Amino acid sequence: MPEGSNQPLRVAVPADAERCKELGVIGWETTYSGYVHEHNRRAYLNGDFWSIDRLRTVLADDSAVNLVVEQGGRVIGFITTEALDDGRYEVTRLYVDPEVRSRGIGARMLQSVFDELRRRGVAEVIVNVFGDNHAGRRFYERHGFQLSDDVWCMVGDQRLSDVWYSQRL
Ligand SMILES: CC(C)(COP(=O)(O)OP(=O)(O)OC[C@H]1O[C@@H](n2cnc3c(N)ncnc32)[C@H](O)[C@@H]1OP(=O)(O)O)[C@@H](O)C(=O)NCCC(=O)NCCS
Repeated sequence: MPEGSNQPLRVAVPADAERCKELGVIGWETTYSGYVHEHNRRAYLNGDFWSIDRLRTVLADDSAVNLVVEQGGRVIGFITTEALDDGRYEVTRLYVDPEVRSRGIGARMLQSVFDELRRRGVAEVIVNVFGDNHAGRRFYERHGFQLSDDVWCMVGDQRLSDVWYSQRL
């Protein structure tokens, strides 16, 4: 097993918000830099979805399933989910430090979320990803998600392809 495959995984807490934000910023600045313009990346990262207050609220929400993976006491990846009104869950953020990607950390977090959602009797989970995020799409498809919709979204002044996936648990 490559280093990183068995790092401790735990439930995320509000105190993880700052580091989760950092990982989100790194993810946007690396993975999305090819198709989201810099001023739009900056605007989105400064918006409500990535605000520390919003992250703290999400990480404090017991109805959600939020996990982090640590290495040497430092968070190197995290996943957040949010319960939808119709009983489904949405994976809303999933980021792994670029330095430790492709070691199965994302897969462990996603599978742990699936296990917990199944335990809670949740029937379906959804996720959306930029259409140009080929690595992200391949990752979700590899984990059984099926394309359910292909729409447009606005990020700042840019119109971008936004694909939705769903999976029955
Ligand atoms: C998508 C993301 C979370 C995946 O995290 P990860 O830890 O790299 O995921 P994994 O290691 O489980 O899988 C990634 C790839 O590594 C490969 N891999 C997994 N374990 C491996 C191992 N032990 N040895 C070699 N390769 C491995 C997988 O086969 C997978 O290949 P794939 O891309 O063809 O599916 C990560 O790339 C990321 O943070 N991306 C930026 C943000 C993003 O796009 N998030 C998703 C949309 S919100």
